[in-house]
Amino acid sequence: MTVFLLDSVRFAVEHRSAGRATGPTLQVYAEAPENRELLRFDCFDRGAHWHLDPDGRDLVTPLRDGVDSIEWVISALRADLNGYLVRAGFTPKPPLAADRVVAVLDRVEQAMRNPPLDLDAIRPEMRRPSLGEKWMTYPEDALPAWVADMDFPIAEPIRRVLRTAVERSDLGYPIHPAPTDVPELSVARMEQRFDWRPDPACVEILTDVVQGIVVALHQFSKPGDGVVIQTPIYPPFLGSVRSTKRRLLENPLALEPTGYGIDVDGLRAAAAQGARMLLLCNPHNPSGRVFRREELDTIAEVVLAHELVVVSDEIHGDLVYSGHRHIPFASLSREVEARTITLTSASKAFNIAGLRCAVAIFGSEPLKRRFCELPRHLRGGIGVLGIEALRAAWRHGQPWLDQVLAYLEANRDYLEGFVLESLPGVRFHPPQATYLGWLDCRELSLDCDPHRFFLERARVVLSNGAGFGSPGRGFARINFATSRAILSEVLERMRKALQDRV
Ligand SMILES: Cc1ncc(COP(=O)(O)O)c(C=O)c1O
Repeated sequence: MTVFLLDSVRFAVEHRSAGRATGPTLQVYAEAPENRELLRFDCFDRGAHWHLDPDGRDLVTPLRDGVDSIEWVISALRADLNGYLVRAGFTPKPPLAADRVVAVLDRVEQAMRNPPLDLDAIRPEMRRPSLGEKWMTYPEDALPAWVADMDFPIAEPIRRVLRTAVERSDLGYPIHPAPTDVPELSVARMEQRFDWRPDPACVEILTDVVQGIVVALHQFSKPGDGVVIQTPIYPPFLGSVRSTKRRLLENPLALEPTGYGIDVDGLRAAAAQGARMLLLCNPHNPSGRVFRREELDTIAEVVLAHELVVVSDEIHGDLVYSGHRHIPFASLSREVEARTITLTSASKAFNIAGLRCAVAIFGSEPLKRRFCELPRHLRGGIGVLGIEALRAAWRHGQPWLDQVLAYLEANRDYLEGFVLESLPGVRFHPPQATYLGWLDCRELSLDCDPHRFFLERARVVLSNGAGFGSPGRGFARINFATSRAILSEVLERMRKALQDRV
């Protein structure tokens, strides 16, 4: 139970199951000396209702089906908490101050929307069978640590909107793009988290981030034009350049003893080979680097000198660990913003990639206009569930993400310790962001690539480093977004396979 105190009034939030219905209950009490329940709101997924308790008489009023009962309760109390208390036979003296009511109700709402998580509880049998490729592509005895999906349950605010939509058969055409508040939500999130305030008129909803990359390549370059990419890189970057017949200008990241950095001279040289565009990945998959301002400034210098259009994939921007800070590339300066298309989504941080919804933020109106000249139907439509899940994640899901991020950070540290102590010959620089570890297995001198070795000998599925471009050969990527128990099992199997090799 979570308790909040406001003068003589106490709010208690508890997540309950009552028969087949589950959901949060909010109880509002008068503190001592009265010490009694005044109001109770049972925001169950079925049969939500509230209790008014004047003089011990329990008056029950059902809430209308289909409305978001938490939203209803919080708005009602925000509008007139003092009035509700008076109806329940209690007059706070002095009346509760409006600004403090709003502040306490914000916290009450967060607690109601986000029940505690038990991430340790996840076991393989809870993930299989699945509709997704992570758990279903390989045989059942192989533990999957490849595709970038998390094994964690989704945030309750997302589950709630999805369940309501399905139960009400509310699966018609979405109201897209207006009048959803996705543009305003995107801007507010960028401002709050990254101190960058783009123009809401320059936001467009897409089905996915990779779609944004491909459409941008199509609209801002021609076949044969050069496109700079920093490898090793998330494979669809390479695939989209190849499939659109653009010329790949590879600028491998420099692997120093301290981790990956930008090869500035290489970047200048690549840009000088007739580059039209730069596809940036920040935070970077698979290295997990969060580029620092001075590194981004160097990239920006090259971008401006060669008048490149930048597609900045910032899908991992919400998955940044302590001690690091994500800086949107477009936030560097007005000039840089005007040439940058920022792509992001709730799909990675909130684990809803299957719902297919992403956001493009254009740094200038001409960028947006040209991008949108590709007929909408070629881009495909966006599903109502994807839009609603994104809205729920960004409006109400932060407490879930905070908990998940802390768990991931502990998993990352555990992975680092395990590699150091128990996987001799494997090198690893702990990621500053993402839940992906990039394992350098070259010193192991395996007789096949590490993906195959660990699949066949450890029954563990990692992503094959070679798919991330030629600098990825001899590497494998591990996904550590799972329970500690599954991660330990994955690593233990890898340790044993290496030990048994000789
Ligand atoms: C850097 C990066 N961009 C894009 C994606 C995929 O995004 P979407 O499914 O929206 O295309 C991923 C998925 O792991 C990724 O790591």
